[in-house]
Amino acid sequence: MTAITLANRDGKTFEVNPKRPILESLRDQGVDLPFGCKYGGCITCAAKLISGKVDQNRQVALNNRQINNGYIILCVARPLTDITIEIGVESHNQLYRNPFLDPLKPHELKADIATLKEE
Ligand code: FES
Repeated sequence: MTAITLANRDGKTFEVNPKRPILESLRDQGVDLPFGCKYGGCITCAAKLISGKVDQNRQVALNNRQINNGYIILCVARPLTDITIEIGVESHNQLYRNPFLDPLKPHELKADIATLKEE
């Protein structure tokens, strides 16, 4: 079992099976979390990783800027270590940006978008 601590819920900790997605494990234990597609594509379930490591290879919702800011996609992420996260919309303060005031730099895009393909 692996421990997930919710930093913005009084540090409450839950023991979870590391093979299951974090969203499923926490919801099964009564944690109310926003979600939409449940396959890693819509960003609704994003949370902020404060410490520890997750495997979220299956997510397609986040760009590199969001990943570098610590965001994880709970519906597909599985904990690789004990982790501490911030959940809910109050953890989304760095998730969205105004693209006109703050455009993404090339290194912040997804790799397949940043690279020009030769025709
Ligand atoms: S619910 Fe859509 S990305 Fe997680």
